Amino acid sequence: EKAGFDHFMLKEIHEQPKAYRDTMGSRISQTGDRVELKEVGMSAEQIRGIRNVHIVACGTAFHAGLIGKSVIEKLARIPVEIDVASEYRYRSPIITSDTLAIVVSQSGETADTLAALREAKRCGARVVAITNVVGSSVAREADDVIVTWAGPEIAVASTKAYTSQLIAFYLFGLHLAQTLGTMEAAEIAQTIAALQALPEQVEAILQEKDAIKRIAEDIAGHDNLFFIGRGLDYAVAMEGSLKLKEISYIHSEAYAAGELKHGTLALIEEGIPVIALATQDALFEKTVSNIKEVKARGAHVLGLANEGDHELEKAVDEVFAIPRTLPLLTPALSVIPLQLLAYYASLARGNDVDKPRNLAKSVTVE
Ligand code: M6R
Repeated sequence: EKAGFDHFMLKEIHEQPKAYRDTMGSRISQTGDRVELKEVGMSAEQIRGIRNVHIVACGTAFHAGLIGKSVIEKLARIPVEIDVASEYRYRSPIITSDTLAIVVSQSGETADTLAALREAKRCGARVVAITNVVGSSVAREADDVIVTWAGPEIAVASTKAYTSQLIAFYLFGLHLAQTLGTMEAAEIAQTIAALQALPEQVEAILQEKDAIKRIAEDIAGHDNLFFIGRGLDYAVAMEGSLKLKEISYIHSEAYAAGELKHGTLALIEEGIPVIALATQDALFEKTVSNIKEVKARGAHVLGLANEGDHELEKAVDEVFAIPRTLPLLTPALSVIPLQLLAYYASLARGNDVDKPRNLAKSVTVE
């Protein structure tokens, strides 16, 4: 059942190229220049009527939503708010019939996410669900359902569900953009081509897993570490940090790289591992200067960069390079080494990788 892998998590990490392909599946035109999301029943007029988007989810699905916010704002130019589902209802969010709510849930059964969906509907919003389980509660109650075809996810730590949620957001963002005319045709075709190249790029990263294993074994001896990044790298840092905490029980924090000097820099001391994501070209120089700040205080820095970005090598102790894609699509690649890092750190610590303490796969209480 684990198809030769030691754990479900490792199997599911390796299933990601297939999950990407299956989630894109028939949702891209034969000609490769348009997205065809037939399951989204909103008319062009309804899409043009969307004034704001609310994304609501928990845990890893929330982290996918953070990327989704950037995708929708960039591609479709619609303002997006995002909340963790357990907070959403209690802050009296301003929901109108012009609000599109997107709930993200692998299982489709998370109690807080379901309650948020119901609140959005009660206030007249249209609800799109991104879920991995056909026929789940969230799928049944939403107006439109975009199924992520990741296949069953058994390990408590979510991997392929997260990345296929990213693919769903890319497709949905393109769908909105096509209708609203916020992207040039050539730009849409270029984004689709980059999406279609992702599965092979993930395979290339998976082939480098021994390098990550070695780094994870070093990290396993530490009790605290930091993930830093800017923009989309910050959102991916949050997911990397959650994954590591969840299964290795090492305390880590994800920090917006530019925020460190507003307090947290005080925690950086000799030898503390810092995992620095620097994949966003537009933010590269600024991230490098933040990396120098932690290096100067003795941190041991692992840099995550795009292939060919040799400039980072000078600023950090080690570099792990990922294949180049469009900046917006980078999270679908940069998270893979972080999943492997959490996996191998958990393994090195002798933990139960697939069933971490205190956690359940599906959280059906609020
Ligand atoms: O089934 P859901 O996507 O609604 O689950 C949400 C979270 O409970 C889940 O993503 C959790 O954070 C994962 N165990 C993280 O790996």
